[in-house]
Amino acid sequence: MSEIRSVAVAGASGTLGPYVLKALIEAKFQVRVLTRSKKPGQYDASVDVVEVDFASVESLTAALEGIDAVVSTVTMAAIPTQTVLIDAAAAAGVQRFIPSEYGSVTTNPKLEVFPGYESFFKIKHHLQAKTHAGKLTWTVLACGGFLEYLFAEAIVLDFAGRKVTLLDQGDNRLSATSLATIGKAIAGILKSPEATKNRVVKVSEAIVTQNQLLRLAEALRPEDKWEISKVAASALLKEGLDAISAGDFSLPAMFKIIKSTGLAGDTYGAAYDENDNELLGVEVLAEEDIKNMVAEALG
Ligand SMILES: NC(=O)c1ccc[n+]([C@@H]2O[C@H](COP(=O)([O-])OP(=O)(O)OC[C@H]3O[C@@H](n4cnc5c(N)ncnc54)[C@H](OP(=O)(O)O)[C@@H]3O)[C@@H](O)[C@H]2O)c1
Repeated sequence: MSEIRSVAVAGASGTLGPYVLKALIEAKFQVRVLTRSKKPGQYDASVDVVEVDFASVESLTAALEGIDAVVSTVTMAAIPTQTVLIDAAAAAGVQRFIPSEYGSVTTNPKLEVFPGYESFFKIKHHLQAKTHAGKLTWTVLACGGFLEYLFAEAIVLDFAGRKVTLLDQGDNRLSATSLATIGKAIAGILKSPEATKNRVVKVSEAIVTQNQLLRLAEALRPEDKWEISKVAASALLKEGLDAISAGDFSLPAMFKIIKSTGLAGDTYGAAYDENDNELLGVEVLAEEDIKNMVAEALG
């Protein structure tokens, strides 16, 4: 494969996008941002920003002229629409496409039929069809949960409210990676195009359990009383699936599915004991680093 020099990023203004942009610039790629609307002063003056219509192959193909790779970090709701961006990338002669996904159990085939997961598979199949037709290559980056979300949101533990609902016994293992490291891993993929082509690449900066985080929190603040409850991951999953079957497509219903699959440990392969950390230069965090994050989350 020829060297990748120029990279277009879609969704650069969101949560993950700025970290990806920074890592690509630091790795000396020529970067172009594709956005729905330009906002003055949003990016450094040296960044080439192009306004595009994400529903138009023509608009996107023109914007991708001269681009070697596309990294998409578009929002979850826009994931199905990436087929248009992929078609445009193929038409423009882009070599590598990294779709927006960045999940924990999103690549497990057992989840293909589940609401909330099917669009990731649809995109992967679309990419595989393009590869089959000799148009482009792809890489899916599985990074586990966003490490920051484990502490900032009341997903795994509610640190602010000192509350936790343990899934199963609380020992289910989950990989997680910080936003900055995900950005660096993406730059690493594009620096090693041959070793990363047409496959799921996994990185894992930490593997945590709810009990581990709870024990760290209790050791740091022994005077605090935690409200602890338990639910079987399979029961929570059934609740979510039943709600969706009954026509409830609300966020809480979807969230039950995401939480009960992501925090089901080995059932859906949420802990990446085998990974591509070494290839992409990702180092595993020490227990002390996790302890510091818990301390910060406790306020
Ligand atoms: N593993 C995890 O724990 C975890 C957590 C959260 C998210 N994720 C995944 O990470 C990826 C990025 O999520 P994020 O939270 O960073 O996204 P986000 O902040 O919600 O949005 C990213 C960007 O998407 C663009 N966008 C919005 N609507 C669009 C549309 N209709 N068409 C095209 N672009 C659109 C916007 O950029 P412009 O305004 O510049 O166009 C926006 O800033 C997603 O795949 C998500 O599933 C994973």
